[in-house]
Amino acid sequence: VESLNQSSLPTTTNKHKKKRKKKSKKRNLPEEIENDASLKKYWVQRYKLFSRFDEGIKLDRESWYSVTPEKIAEHIAERCRCDVIVDAFCGSGGNAIQFAFTCEKVLAIDIDPVKLENAKHNAAIYGVEDRIDFICGSFFDIAPTLKADIVFLSPPWGGPEYTNCETYSIAEMGDFGTKAFTLAKNISDNIAFFLPRNSNVDELVCLAGPGNQVELEQNMLNNKIVTITAYYGKELIEWGKGNQLFKDTNNQLNMLDDTGYAADFEIQDSVTYQNSSLSCDDE
Ligand SMILES: C[S@@+](CC[C@H](N)C(=O)[O-])C[C@H]1O[C@@H](n2cnc3c(N)ncnc32)[C@H](O)[C@@H]1O
Repeated sequence: VESLNQSSLPTTTNKHKKKRKKKSKKRNLPEEIENDASLKKYWVQRYKLFSRFDEGIKLDRESWYSVTPEKIAEHIAERCRCDVIVDAFCGSGGNAIQFAFTCEKVLAIDIDPVKLENAKHNAAIYGVEDRIDFICGSFFDIAPTLKADIVFLSPPWGGPEYTNCETYSIAEMGDFGTKAFTLAKNISDNIAFFLPRNSNVDELVCLAGPGNQVELEQNMLNNKIVTITAYYGKELIEWGKGNQLFKDTNNQLNMLDDTGYAADFEIQDSVTYQNSSLSCDDE
């Protein structure tokens, strides 16, 4: 009997241990995730958002669903290599951090001081905070004072509900759509506009203006189209031409850059649209 009791002991203890482990795992969840079940799916994907998440990345509630996944941010930053870039809506720094690896200076703007503080903190984890000027304020006020080679626009899309409609119109963004684009255009012709994957293509072509082009790139992660980036301006569109796309053994499209480096993200081939809007007299 004694030996039986003893042999059953460790099982009970293990059970307790398991319970304790589970509990402590739960306690490790950030407060904003713990308090909101709808955010749990983003927590599962935290390393997709920041590969160095465990080193102390900080995100507020909104940033959990609006930060750009790191691989995509890295790719966009490669395309946007330049001296000075404006990240007009920098949030918690998903894009700004990657721009700091490819650009001499990043002007990172956000209206929300908490997000900006988190962006600064997160940039320090990646060791790039010195290359970023963090500016708290509204892009709509600050834009006329800015000078840069490229402007990156990643405005709010109105929450995760953007996927509910078949086609997303930039009108849904209000001022963050056409108005933000016009302000960006006064800073530079080279604009990268980060948009929902179901964005209305006609509207994006229209934004290019008569006689101009836009390149629409579908950003894919693990075979899924996650977002679209619309590139305006000769320099940004030319970039794709100097790089080769090739299909790897898994039939994935990959990119081989000038140095022969094969980037390990997946992108879908992009399409360049020409806006050939003409006008004529009615009579
Ligand atoms: C989609 S999030 C940007 C996410 C960012 N690209 C990232 O990867 O972390 C949009 C951001 O725009 C900011 N924002 C909203 N209105 C703004 C304004 N008028 N000027 C500047 N930033 C604004 C929000 O606070 C939010 O952080």
